[in-house]
Amino acid sequence: MKSSISILTRLAVLVLVGLVMVSAVEAADRDKLLSEPGVYGTFAAFSLDADWGKQDQVVRIAQLTVLKGVVEQHREKLAIDVYLLRGLSDHADLLFRIHATELRETQQFLLDLQGSLFGKHLTSSAIFSGLTKKANYVPGMPDNLKAELKISSEPGPNPYVIVIPIRKDADWWSLPKEQRAAMMQEHTEASLPYSKTVMRKLYHATGLDDLDFITYFETSRLEDFQSLILALEKVKEFRYNRRFGHPTLLGTVRSLDEIIEVLAQ
Ligand code: HEM
Repeated sequence: MKSSISILTRLAVLVLVGLVMVSAVEAADRDKLLSEPGVYGTFAAFSLDADWGKQDQVVRIAQLTVLKGVVEQHREKLAIDVYLLRGLSDHADLLFRIHATELRETQQFLLDLQGSLFGKHLTSSAIFSGLTKKANYVPGMPDNLKAELKISSEPGPNPYVIVIPIRKDADWWSLPKEQRAAMMQEHTEASLPYSKTVMRKLYHATGLDDLDFITYFETSRLEDFQSLILALEKVKEFRYNRRFGHPTLLGTVRSLDEIIEVLAQ
């Protein structure tokens, strides 16, 4: 009992320190970074080393305060989201999604993170970067599909995150645009039944990574997500995927304070 009170007190101090820092640093225009084309999205997954859990809780809390400080320090220019993969993914424990108008700002954040006392316990397990772009194929789709695509997903929290990197083969890229457009229309028709419960975001990675796309999803219904993938596997366009996943990252959407609380235990 005594120790749980002291954990709560320490966490309260952490939150206060965080709040002071947030008010001192003006946050980036998060809505713009998350919705506009021409924004870089980086996904950085890390594992915690075995020494992390062996440290005294007071030391861990001090290092988590450093983590909070590094994130807050960069919120002025970046939109930073954190996810807990531990327990659901064997690839990594933590995932950061960073949106920036300049990729070098993301690099500075990751350098500061990895160079910090907390970062000394992190091993990088995957990093990929892509760019948000205006839709390629949607403008040429029939009006009914365009209208359906505009219907937003059901309100409410989406606790699960899935990130799947994709690379298409050379045959795909050498097809005439009309043929690709027809297959993307088929892809859209097959996926639309799931768009109410699966929120998606697409990043173009060709030339920036060994990938063509990073696909990002949030949902509260993993069973819908699974049916969606099965539906897409039947579509012709899917046959042009040369890499799908490897890794597929599955985790939960968390606030930084929630991550800190979990890692402080
Ligand atoms: C909620 C369900 C989904 C809907 C409504 C949907 C719809 C769309 C639409 C309309 C596009 C064309 C964007 C453009 O005009 O440039 C697109 C592209 C794409 N989608 Fe989906 N999608 C869904 C789920 C998925 C899933 C589950 C995956 C794979 C994991 C996926 C992978 C892709 C990829 C890689 C592209 C880019 C293809 C290219 O430009 O060659 N989508 N999607």
